[in-house]
Amino acid sequence: MKYMSKNLSRTLLCLVAFALAAPAHAQAVKPLPAQEFPEGFTGKSEPKSGSGQEWMVAAANPYAVQAGADILAAGGSALDAAIAVNLVLNLVEPQSSGIGGGAFIVHWDAKAGAVRTYDGREKAPAAAEENRFLTKDGKPMGRMQAIVGGKSVGVPGLIRVMELAHKSHGKLPWARIFQPAITLAENGFPISPRLNALLAGDRNLAALEPAKSFYYDANGQAKAVGTILKNPAFAATLRAIAEKGADAFYTGPIAAEIVRTVTSAPQNAGDMTLEDLKNYKAVERTPVCGAYRTYKVCGMGPPSSGGIGVIQSLAVLEPHDLRTLGPKSPTSYHLLAEAGRLSFADRAVYMADPDVVPVPVEGLIAPDYLKARAALVKEDARIPVAEAGNVPTKRAYAPADSPELPSTTHFSIVDRDGNAVAMTSTIESGFGSRLMSGGGFILNNQLTDFSYEDVAEQRSVANRVGGAKRPRSSMTPTMVFNKDGKLEMVLGSPGGPAIVGFVVKTLVAMIDWDMSPASAAAAPFVLGMGNMVTLEEELAPVKPALEQLGHTVRLNNAASGIHAIRITKDGLLGGADPRREGVVIGK
Ligand code: DON
Repeated sequence: MKYMSKNLSRTLLCLVAFALAAPAHAQAVKPLPAQEFPEGFTGKSEPKSGSGQEWMVAAANPYAVQAGADILAAGGSALDAAIAVNLVLNLVEPQSSGIGGGAFIVHWDAKAGAVRTYDGREKAPAAAEENRFLTKDGKPMGRMQAIVGGKSVGVPGLIRVMELAHKSHGKLPWARIFQPAITLAENGFPISPRLNALLAGDRNLAALEPAKSFYYDANGQAKAVGTILKNPAFAATLRAIAEKGADAFYTGPIAAEIVRTVTSAPQNAGDMTLEDLKNYKAVERTPVCGAYRTYKVCGMGPPSSGGIGVIQSLAVLEPHDLRTLGPKSPTSYHLLAEAGRLSFADRAVYMADPDVVPVPVEGLIAPDYLKARAALVKEDARIPVAEAGNVPTKRAYAPADSPELPSTTHFSIVDRDGNAVAMTSTIESGFGSRLMSGGGFILNNQLTDFSYEDVAEQRSVANRVGGAKRPRSSMTPTMVFNKDGKLEMVLGSPGGPAIVGFVVKTLVAMIDWDMSPASAAAAPFVLGMGNMVTLEEELAPVKPALEQLGHTVRLNNAASGIHAIRITKDGLLGGADPRREGVVIGK
């Protein structure tokens, strides 16, 4: 418990620091003060919606959404569009995701009636050992001490998972899908207010070449909003991968440059090898599915904790009449917080890389287990200490959190054949490890999603560091099906461990409170983690009622990035999170 609260406080510290960093509801984005943990909150606009009859793209940046729309208009599939969107996001939203990172893809094939999930999570180098993020005296490293430099960099998975999913679900040629990002990298794009604000607040990135010269002017100031940024190195990298396939990333000069960047990092030089890159494989995983009211909800299984977290949370909410309680009742937020606290406790103990650790997936979402968990929740009292449940497992692990920091991006796409993609993509914290490869892209710091401590309470930690192991994730690309088995909702969000809470809130808002995707994305969040409840600032009026129940409550603004699509009988409705710069385009 002592361990958990220390890590939790790290997570919450950064959440709270966002709140201090920027004003609530700021329309004009102001630079964040110097801080160590962007990508932070940069304001909240009005809800952003879109509609269409044939297809739709909802993502975190207008250039990326346009690229996806162009691919769909050219006859591409949802998966083709997803690749184009993510490659452009790498350019215009470089703090969040890119080919130096990893992703999870949930895909719906309308004709086959099949949901399939793909794991492009980064892997630790084979040489990684469990004391990787411990100091010489065995204490966990400081957060930025571990993140910045080469040790935190996992073998990137994005290009391999794109290739894997494209083989089954692509329609347009691989090279064609790369075209929008190559063109934009060559012609340049104007730096957005949010990118400028996050650059201005990141003193680690500002200190490290080549990112320093690329994103900052000669005086060390972040390049101004509207500055046209070209990235010829990235264009050349994409051209090589477009022409020669994913192998051009995992072997040859691009791979060599990644290894050189990681191993020669001025701080925390890493141990990644060419073999590590060559050996990387993306994996198709079995989706995890559960029920909520009349719906079936499916998502990503381990190494993500997200799909299980959403299924568990919804099962805990199921017995309660949230529709009657509505979005104004403090009880609704109490219940959402309790659901979060219970699933967060299970996450800390059981969830890790399933190829290395025996994760009891079935037990964690078994109806009887979930009923027992739901029975712990009362409308008029708080669970004193939310602990992990007793799920039969081959090995007993100790609870441990890992401090996931804000970055990451989620996009949702439906094509004209009714196929869909929910994809969450990440380089982990804002601007990842801060190392930029000569290939024009930033390298992730995903390995700090491992627990820094390998042992707690005299027991091994499931999510400890291991050679060639994938760190646990919270990413939660999600699809919801109606009682006839038809796809109805596609959604997800960034937010690290807060992702599950963001997604559950959005689902409750759409399903129980009849909100549109745009209003549901905009609806304020509540997060329950450990013994702390975090409320978005606009929920301040319900704070006293939650405190009356015994909750410790903090007010905070954080940059969720929910991009959701709902397929209704009247067509497609989409919503983009007003806390980021995204839009929806539908036709
Ligand atoms: O995989 C994960 O769960 C984290 N690396 C994601 C980080 C994240 O979403 C930060 N978001 N704002």
